[in-house]
Amino acid sequence: MSYARVLCVGLVGVTGHLVEVEADLAAGLPAVMLTGLPDASLNEARDRVRAAIVNSGQDWPNRRITVNLLPADLHKHGSSFDLAIATALLTGAGDLPPGPLREVVLLGELGLDGTVRPVRGVLPMVAAAVRAGVTRVIVPVENACEATVVPGVTVRAVDTLRRLVEFVRGQELLLDPLPAATPPPPPPLDLADVAGQLMGRLGLEVAAAGGHHLALFGAPGAGKTMLAERLPSILPELDDEAALEVTALHSIAGVLPPGSHLIRRPPFQAPHHSASLASLIGGGSGLARPGAMSLAHRGVLFLDEVSEMSGRTLQALREPLETGQVVLARLHGTTEYPARVQLVVAANPCPCASPAGDQYCTCSPHVRRRYRAKLSGPLLDRIDMRITLRPMRAADLVPADDPATPSAVVATKVSQARKVAEERWAANGWRVNAEVPGPVLRKPPWQLPLKETTDLRRALDLGLLSARGFDRVLRLAWTLADLDGRSRPERADIGEAIQLRMGESHEWTE
Ligand SMILES: Nc1ncnc2c1ncn2[C@@H]1O[C@H](COP(=O)(O)OP(=O)(O)OP(=O)(O)O)[C@@H](O)[C@H]1O
Ligand SMILES: [Mg+2]
Ligand SMILES: [Zn+2]
Repeated sequence: MSYARVLCVGLVGVTGHLVEVEADLAAGLPAVMLTGLPDASLNEARDRVRAAIVNSGQDWPNRRITVNLLPADLHKHGSSFDLAIATALLTGAGDLPPGPLREVVLLGELGLDGTVRPVRGVLPMVAAAVRAGVTRVIVPVENACEATVVPGVTVRAVDTLRRLVEFVRGQELLLDPLPAATPPPPPPLDLADVAGQLMGRLGLEVAAAGGHHLALFGAPGAGKTMLAERLPSILPELDDEAALEVTALHSIAGVLPPGSHLIRRPPFQAPHHSASLASLIGGGSGLARPGAMSLAHRGVLFLDEVSEMSGRTLQALREPLETGQVVLARLHGTTEYPARVQLVVAANPCPCASPAGDQYCTCSPHVRRRYRAKLSGPLLDRIDMRITLRPMRAADLVPADDPATPSAVVATKVSQARKVAEERWAANGWRVNAEVPGPVLRKPPWQLPLKETTDLRRALDLGLLSARGFDRVLRLAWTLADLDGRSRPERADIGEAIQLRMGESHEWTE
């Protein structure tokens, strides 16, 4: 026999496609040809596979070898095809019986010494295999745990090519996936640690319940970073579908720790203000790595010190924020990754950032204006709430009689409010209030009685709010009503929503 066929999976964005690796060995001058749209990194597989086969004690077939990857029109990249290529080649040469690996997907990179190395994206690859009806996979031992996350799959693991070869010959067993390692839990970030800052806490709760973006301003040390980091602690756990999406993105980025299982907590990403565009948006050669925007998918993207970010960076975030996905230009076409994030930004009120608060600011009005203008355009108009935290006072930090409410209590409230909103909008396919288009809230059946919206209309007429701001206040008011268990927002909710929208400092408004 001089022909063999082995199954593998190629990724395009987060979507896997079943790939057949064909090997044909013909008489003629010894050579290896790789066809079927391989990229440069995949082309190097020829050298890795040859060394791995020889160093695993197997004979290299000195024939004219063609390895073809099907379907031919699918761009294939990366090193995860190595194991399938080596196996197809050995089977084609007659060194391995074809039976045991029929209807099995093989994934893994080969080291020159024949070790099987972990690859990125195993979870979405295995999910694609199962979707295509192939339920048995062999993966690198380091990736075995994430592969087991996919329902309905049988996972076996390998550490070396030699082990796989001996398994196929019936002389050796494959490895079982390691039991999920339970990493030590990170120190819990709990709202109970945050003293005072009632407006900031309310903003966080509303953000969690309604899916609203949030901006936190205020003097250094007021607790902006502290509050933002605690948003995930009051968000509901991810459902099955979201958890798979999130874990797949982390798998493709190669940031899943070995032995990890489904990610159930909403992710939190806080890229530094000097972070490169590629690390924020994604990129890199071969299988593009998702950036912080996609790693925060279904969770929180926190831009701390956002006023320090370059205009170019802020501009680049704009489109993904709007569309919920990142589109990366590649050599051949584009790669898309989901990026539906809840945005929290934090900034000092001005460049001098006097810790004692605005009244001690030494910046000229011109400097303050320029500093704020940078943010307003691209980002601020997408943000529902702008909250200015007051500088902390000693009295705030002294343990009070009534300790601050812990995250668990707020999370329960948030989850109840979310349920109400989800049921209300279920027929329209919106899940949180932040997703509801403004015009819907201004028209029956959701239009509010005139007497409830008096203050809102006045704020618009006085120019304190823009039309866009008007809609954002309405959305916030619905979330406040949901949190308080009222079926519709009332005048008091609107008043509170206006405050959350405009903050204390009118310099940031509209
Ligand atoms: N409301 C608060 N309750 C308890 N501790 C606080 C509070 N605010 C600030 N702190 C303390 O001050 C430290 C700094 O707070 P944080 O980093 O959140 O401030 P910030 O507003 O982000 O400041 P900066 O503008 O310098 O980034 C915290 O680690 C915490 O110890
Ligand atoms: Mg900070
Ligand atoms: Zn200043």
